[in-house]
Amino acid sequence: MRHLLATDGLAADQATAVLDTADELKRTLLGREVRKLPTLRGRTVITMFYENSTRTRVSFELAGKWMSADVINVSAGGSSVGKGESLRDTALTLSAAGADCVIIRHPASGAAHRLSGWLAETPTAVVNAGDGTHEHPTQALLDAATLRERLGELAGRRVGIVGDVLHSRVARSNVHLLATLGAEVVLVAPPTLLPPGAESLPVTVAHHLDAELPALDAVMMLRVQTERMHGGFFPSAREYSIAYGLNEARLRLLPEHAVVLHPGPMLRGMEIAPAVADAPQSAIIEQVRNGVHVRMAVLYHLLAGEGEAA
Ligand code: CP
Repeated sequence: MRHLLATDGLAADQATAVLDTADELKRTLLGREVRKLPTLRGRTVITMFYENSTRTRVSFELAGKWMSADVINVSAGGSSVGKGESLRDTALTLSAAGADCVIIRHPASGAAHRLSGWLAETPTAVVNAGDGTHEHPTQALLDAATLRERLGELAGRRVGIVGDVLHSRVARSNVHLLATLGAEVVLVAPPTLLPPGAESLPVTVAHHLDAELPALDAVMMLRVQTERMHGGFFPSAREYSIAYGLNEARLRLLPEHAVVLHPGPMLRGMEIAPAVADAPQSAIIEQVRNGVHVRMAVLYHLLAGEGEAA
């Protein structure tokens, strides 16, 4: 892989290679007191976060450090972006300074793709850590890793993605990756929170959550992104929670083996009830743990070339 910009276009063998490497890294590091591998010694990873993040930013930093890379975090507030420097000039500066990989989160859809174009003549790899409402490919990969652990192979499994699909880069990346890995995806959302052209995605679309739950192997609840709803929020928060919130009664409609996912940050009581978020069916904490191993695997496939990951 040269860059990781999206799961749309990521081949099944590339995705499976990342997931297999993440499994191998997790097994290798399990129970170790010192979680440090020499694999990326001498490599430099720079994260550029122009939007808030807890999970993605911390896990990329840990991923780089656990593989012995030098990791530097740049935020818009503390860099020359605050003096008006453009994204292009910032990227070229970081590449010239020696970045082997730039990881970017940005509010504009397409920002990571633009960055990869500007860095085409350099050896610097680009990873999309979430761009606007477009894609969040490492989130989809860590979701797939978590589902594989709980359910085995994903081919033929049915995954419901529920809620604010319109604003969700997590949903978009999961739709493409799950379809590539052979899973069926059903988007369950109010019509106002579905993207235009949803029917042309490799999904089925539904509006009634209770009717879908009994046939799902996994249900992925999405955060309601009010910060991207500049024209107001319809349905109201209360209506949304009643129709689409995963509460204890709805948890009982799922098959016993079904897995509950949420990318975080969660709005407990809005899209997911606290008791459901903490139930045995919930894999939300495992998603976070797997995020580190998946991001280690991504860095390995971008930067390490041939050889063993662990
Ligand atoms: N899931 C996710 O991207 O979380 P953060 O915004 O905390 O990184």
